[in-house]
Amino acid sequence: MTPEYFTSDPATALLSLQEVVTEFHTEQGVVRGIDGVSYDVRPGECLGVVGESGSGKSVTIMSALGLLPPSATVRSGHAWFDGTDLLQCSERRLSRVRGKEIGVVFQDPMTALNPVMSVGAQIAESLRAHNPGMSRTARRARVLELLSDVGIPDPAERAKQYPHQFSGGMRQRVMVAIAIANRPKLIIADEPTTALDVTVQAQILDLLLRVQAEVGAALVLITHDLGVIAEMADRVVVMNGGRVVEQAPVDALFHDTRHPYTRALLGSLPRMDSDVGRLATVQSQTQGLAVVPDAAEQRLVRVGPDHYVASAYAHRADGAEPDAAESKEVVA
Ligand SMILES: Nc1ncnc2c1ncn2[C@@H]1O[C@H](COP(=O)(O)OP(=O)(O)OP(=O)(O)O)[C@@H](O)[C@H]1O
Ligand SMILES: [Mg+2]
Repeated sequence: MTPEYFTSDPATALLSLQEVVTEFHTEQGVVRGIDGVSYDVRPGECLGVVGESGSGKSVTIMSALGLLPPSATVRSGHAWFDGTDLLQCSERRLSRVRGKEIGVVFQDPMTALNPVMSVGAQIAESLRAHNPGMSRTARRARVLELLSDVGIPDPAERAKQYPHQFSGGMRQRVMVAIAIANRPKLIIADEPTTALDVTVQAQILDLLLRVQAEVGAALVLITHDLGVIAEMADRVVVMNGGRVVEQAPVDALFHDTRHPYTRALLGSLPRMDSDVGRLATVQSQTQGLAVVPDAAEQRLVRVGPDHYVASAYAHRADGAEPDAAESKEVVA
C-alpha cells in the first residue's frame, strides 16, 4: 500500500506550518534550531506540543510569530495563518497579527510585562493598539472586565498597581488577560506555568482552558508535562531534534504510541512536583536513540486516524508489518 504522508493544509488549518527551517548563527558556526517542521493548528482545538529541552518547540512558534532573536534566520518554509504566510510578512503586519489575532502567554510574566507601567495601563495599551476607535471609557471598562474574567479580585484597585505588586500566579493571569484582550483566534502558551508554584499551575491551566472556550480560540500549549497534555490536549505534536517525530489525537498518542522517542517520554511518567528531575530522566532515556539521518525516513506517515509518525517507525509497535496496521485501521 502506498504510504500516506502528512501534509499541512492551509485551507482547513488555522495555522499551517510547512517545512519550517530556522538556523542560528553562533560562534561555533551555523546551528539548525529546527529542521523542517510541519504541523497544523485547527480552529478551536487545544494542541499540545511536547519534547525535551532543545527539541525546537519554542523556536518553531517564535519563527511563525517573528519573535526570534537577531542571531536567528528562517531559511525556508511557510506559516500560513488566515491566508497570509507569516514568514513573508512585514514586521508591521506581524505586529498587528500578534496581540490581535494571536495572543501569546510566555513562561515568565515578569520579563514579558513592563515593570514601570501599571497593569491596567498595559492591558489598555494592548486594546488601544489594536482598536484605535475604542473610547477611553469603553477601554477602561474592558480592562476591569478582563481582570475580573481572569480571576483577579478587586479589579479597580489592582488595575492601578504595578507587576511587582502581584504574585507570580496573578502576573500570569494578567498575561492571559492581555493575550485574550482582543479575542484572538489563536492563543499560544509556551510553558505558561513552569515558573509557578504547583498549586497555582493547575489554576492557570484551568483559566487558559476556560478563556479559550469563552473566546472560541485554538490553544497551542507547549509543555514538558505529559500529565497536563493528557488532561488538556485534543491532539499532540511530539518534537525531537528540531523535527516532528509523531503527531496524534491524545488518546492514540498514549495508547497506540508508535515512536520510540514518544515511548521514552511516556515512560518517564510526569510528576506534577518535579519538572527538572523528570526532564533529566527523559534525556537519559532518549540518549542513544538513533537519530534517523535520512530525510525521507523522517517524513510523517499515516498510521491511524489523524495519527502520523516518522516513516522509519511506521511499523506497528508490536513489530507487525505496516499492512497489518492498515487493516486494523479499516476495521476501526
Ligand atoms: N539563542 C540561540 N542561539 C543558538 N541556538 C539556539 C538559540 N535558541 C535556540 N537554539 C537552538 O534551537 C534548538 C531548539 O530550541 P528551542 O528553544 O526551540 O527548544 P525548546 O524545545 O523550546 O526547549 P525548552 O523546553 O528548553 O524550552 C536548540 O537545541 C538550539 O540548538
Ligand atoms: Mg522552549
